[in-house]
Amino acid sequence: MNHRARPAAGAPHVRIFEDADALARAAAGRFVEAAQAAVKASGRFSVALAGGNTPRKVYELLSGDEFSPRVDWARRHIFFGDERCVPPDHSESNYRMAQETLLSRVPVPPENVHRIEGVGDPAENARAYEDELRSFFGDVEWPEFDLVLLGLGDDGHTASLFPYTPALDAGGAWVAANRVEKLGALRITLTAPAISHARHVLFLVSGRSKASRLAEVVRGNFEPERLPAQSIRPVAGELEWFVDEEAAREL
Ligand code: 6PG
Repeated sequence: MNHRARPAAGAPHVRIFEDADALARAAAGRFVEAAQAAVKASGRFSVALAGGNTPRKVYELLSGDEFSPRVDWARRHIFFGDERCVPPDHSESNYRMAQETLLSRVPVPPENVHRIEGVGDPAENARAYEDELRSFFGDVEWPEFDLVLLGLGDDGHTASLFPYTPALDAGGAWVAANRVEKLGALRITLTAPAISHARHVLFLVSGRSKASRLAEVVRGNFEPERLPAQSIRPVAGELEWFVDEEAAREL
């Protein structure tokens, strides 16, 4: 493993919140601000949602009385950062989680919800999702999401970019099917450069189990193959980490 110095970049913006609820409220607020700014600038807002547990509260808040009226849902385009290779009604489906907590509760037009197909050949599904992204973003080298929400796994993964997996080196691909040996599973994921060209990337990290890995990712040597979350390095956009006190214990 080649331990390199972290390439020059601005200091990571880490904001620490008292607990998971405070973190979720702040993240919902950031979502609304990003959405309002994007609609003002371009008439639409594109967001890639994270899976996992941490964003649940954020999505529930966004679909509730306080935040939902502040969002013009008709101009929102909802994408996914990654998906498990399961049907959309499966308990492990990221789409299902987003559908239950957010999408079924807000007036987002169904054609604006761009889910990743989890059933069938993963490589073909990855290609189909990339085609869908390309028809949305147009003839550009990389997509420019207005906002990408991400989580951090205990092993340093983010989206479905797991340590030492093929999707970490996917060339010019925006989307990749990724075999994750330790899960004995296939996933479909946005690639690191596709995420890194977003205008705003927001990591949400909660809980004591994340503390040491978070410290390594944010403050440690640059080892993106071992710590794939480090491979998310916005090119021109903003990178923020919203973490709760438990997760921040070793920072
Ligand atoms: C997924 C993800 C994944 C997740 C992290 C953190 O599909 O599982 O998108 O990258 O964000 O594993 O998950 P938690 O929020 O559950 O800790």
